[in-house]
Amino acid sequence: MFKSSTQSIPDECCGVPRHVAVIMDGNGRWAKKRLMPRVFGHKKGVDALRETIKSCDAMGVEFLTVFAFSNENWRRPADEVSFLMGLFLQVLAGEIERMHEKQIRLQIIGNRSRFAPELLKLINDGEQKTAANTGLTLSIAVDYGGRWDVIQATQRMLADRPELIAGFEETDLAPYLAMAYAPEPDLFIRTGGEQRISNFLLWQLAYTELYFTDMLWPDFDRAALQTAVDWFRGRERRFGRISEQVQPVS
Ligand code: IPE
Ligand code: IPE
Ligand code: MG
Repeated sequence: MFKSSTQSIPDECCGVPRHVAVIMDGNGRWAKKRLMPRVFGHKKGVDALRETIKSCDAMGVEFLTVFAFSNENWRRPADEVSFLMGLFLQVLAGEIERMHEKQIRLQIIGNRSRFAPELLKLINDGEQKTAANTGLTLSIAVDYGGRWDVIQATQRMLADRPELIAGFEETDLAPYLAMAYAPEPDLFIRTGGEQRISNFLLWQLAYTELYFTDMLWPDFDRAALQTAVDWFRGRERRFGRISEQVQPVS
């Protein structure tokens, strides 16, 4: 298990965030600005994601987690929802082989109960095929919600260990969370100008550095990622301590 930021102070790293979590927002507005239908923005968003995966890999980021579809996104018009599900299926089908060649380990996090059987099969096959890969771990959050995650983890924990109904601790719950296989994100990026979490990784973002940019997701490129990482490198991560405890003694 990785160190929890609230249980112990995570090890300092090399300046590059080990885990980057991204809310890829602004696809619809990007398309609207060009007088195109919203779905055109989603298609361009896939190109930006491909680019971000490549850049993270090149920079030495170990974990990249992206929000592709939230529990609340089912509230969108039905045609946009089915387009997004179709796009997800198409992208997975077309990219798994390429990811595998690049040693990427694929994980899908979220509530799988509403996925079409065809999508479910692709996800399971893709995860299995890439499970032993040693490169970047790419987690795609689909039908994911931070609250869903805490609830599903609690339910599974209590099913396994009913005696914990009397009381449990953070360390009891943590192994059941959807991202138990990864350290907590170091850097969170949200494009599209909104400054909110929108029910993304609520538990895991406890001590993550939060970066917001007005840039719309389809425009996000390597230089934009570098700007976010440079900002991250300038942060002082105290994890509850005071500055003097963090600074190296000179
Ligand atoms: C993010 O872009 C992609 C998804 C939520 C699937 P949006 O579709 O939210 O784009 P805006 O925020 O309406 O511009
Ligand atoms: C958050 O974006 C979810 C994803 C990017 C998948 P939204 O565009 O759905 O967020 P809100 O509703 O504006 O907060
Ligand atoms: Mg949006």
